[in-house]
Amino acid sequence: MAISKVGVVGAGLMGAGIAQTCAQSGYDVVVREINQQLLDKGLARIYGAWDMMASKGKLTHGQVDENRTRIRGTLDIADFAECDLVIEAVIENMEEKLRLFPALDHTLKPDALILSNTSSLNITQMGAVTKRQDKICGLHFFNPAPVMQLVEIVQTISTSQETIETVKQFAISLGKKPVLAKDTAGFIVNFLLIPYLLAAIRMLENGMATRDDIDTAMKLGCGYPMGPFTLLDYVGLDTTMWAAEAIYEEYKDPLYAPPPLLRRMVISGMYGRKSGKGFYDYQ
Ligand code: CAA
Repeated sequence: MAISKVGVVGAGLMGAGIAQTCAQSGYDVVVREINQQLLDKGLARIYGAWDMMASKGKLTHGQVDENRTRIRGTLDIADFAECDLVIEAVIENMEEKLRLFPALDHTLKPDALILSNTSSLNITQMGAVTKRQDKICGLHFFNPAPVMQLVEIVQTISTSQETIETVKQFAISLGKKPVLAKDTAGFIVNFLLIPYLLAAIRMLENGMATRDDIDTAMKLGCGYPMGPFTLLDYVGLDTTMWAAEAIYEEYKDPLYAPPPLLRRMVISGMYGRKSGKGFYDYQ
């Protein structure tokens, strides 16, 4: 199936990065938010990234203008009607997704694909509220989406092989390296990453080492680009907690139980970089 028009639902940190990636790879993109303020913020994030790339000589000003013409913001889900493929990147809340999927199913062309960027929620459940379960799978990007090379393609028990092949080619056309995972909570990366991040929080809670020393140790001792607290702030503490809860819900393995400190920071609105404060202060 040929893909030319792509829809992205949500213009937050991930949605904006995904829309940016698709537009700069030559796709016509419609990106939808729930209000004008969030839409403007998402588009400003994308335009800002292109201006930064132009200032570094990675894009010409002509390419920036071209990219801008390929992207259109909307508040109306009906604007996805012509899309060949829609990627959902809304808040990690199953109720929200279960409202969105039937609406997309109703709006999209019968052969259009619906992909979820969820990091750990059950995609089979999202597909089950549509009449196109064979055309639904996960396409999980990593933050920052325009930079990180990996995408996880997540196959449910109902996703057709044809859908997987189309999504694989689509991912490659975005310059990504796809890996295939089954629809189990956390897929590949978060199943392994979440226990590591939660263990770092428990070390801090238990006074085993300082935040800075834990970050330095993992950065310099393991060659990771960021220590766990810098990464937690980068990914978002709310996103991390939701992912941990989803995996814990599936396996009831205490390794995935959110530590009390994480829960309290999220309750207090300390989400990391995006809210200005997390384990570090960004104000
Ligand atoms: N668009 C285009 N380019 C961008 C960009 C964007 N939105 N954001 C950053 N870049 C570019 C920068 O311009 C820079 O390019 P140059 O090297 O050519 O100058 C490059 O990316 C690196 O950025 P920086 O120089 O700002 O910073 P850095 O070298 O420290 O790298 C990083 C930043 C890529 C984020 C690196 O620190 C890193 O890889 N960190 C780990 C990130 C990670 O693990 N992400 C996965 C998190 S898990 C997840 O997302 C899944 C989940 O479900 C929770």
